[in-house]
Amino acid sequence: MTDQPLVKSKRLLKIEDLHTYIGDSHILQGCTLDVGTECVALLGRNGMGKTTLLRSIMGLTPPRSGTIEWKQEAISGNSPNKIANAGIGYVPQGRRLFPSLSVEEHLTLPHRKIDAPAAWTPERVFEFFPELAARRKLSGTRLSGGEQQMLAIGRALVTNPEILLLDEPSEGLSPVANDRVIEICQELLKANISILLVEQNIHVAEALAERIYIILGGRIVHESEAHEFLEDTNLRQKYLGI
Ligand SMILES: Nc1ncnc2c1ncn2[C@@H]1O[C@H](COP(=O)(O)OP(=O)(O)O)[C@@H](O)[C@H]1O
Ligand SMILES: [Mg+2]
Repeated sequence: MTDQPLVKSKRLLKIEDLHTYIGDSHILQGCTLDVGTECVALLGRNGMGKTTLLRSIMGLTPPRSGTIEWKQEAISGNSPNKIANAGIGYVPQGRRLFPSLSVEEHLTLPHRKIDAPAAWTPERVFEFFPELAARRKLSGTRLSGGEQQMLAIGRALVTNPEILLLDEPSEGLSPVANDRVIEICQELLKANISILLVEQNIHVAEALAERIYIILGGRIVHESEAHEFLEDTNLRQKYLGI
């Protein structure tokens, strides 16, 4: 009995033997991983299937076989909207903001109200990201790279997720903006939001993740504590070329 909460917390998101195709291409070839109340990093070179894995979880590129369980309920086959409403927030690679929407509209349109004292609202996002509050009427795409990333994260937060899937949040950002991304993620982890982090920037992964998975050719080929992997120059060279 005493083990129960621990087991549950380790298995918030549980993915088993996931196979996803894009057209006729067999992209994910049996991915198995799980995420609890923690930050887990998914690392791998370009084209290995990281984005496809996140899109499969969100139902945007639905898997052909395998299972995805969220809080012990099967979610694969559900619509992206239903998956998001179940508490899974997605921050896509390249931010995907809309030039026609203001900063504020990016936050008010997807806002999903929940009845909780610490619920995220557009106003709370503005308190969390003062950089955005000062620019609320601007088009989302007129922001700096770092601000755009904050807006993309804020847009996911207003859906009040319990986990965030972050696809290369540091891509194209300055070192200062990267540090801010790390700081933001640390704050979110403290607030018990889990993170599945896809990263090419090893320093960002190192600062945040407790555990890592390596994806190679659509398969998970390595799983370990983050420090075990990052301290092993042979493994790093083998899977990331760094
Ligand atoms: N829309 C698409 N059409 C065809 N192939 C795609 C498409 N999107 C991704 N792929 C292929 O799927 C593989 C994995 O891509 P992706 O998941 O984006 O990798 P990563 O995020 O690790 O860079 C790559 O070989 C890529 O060429
Ligand atoms: Mg990608």
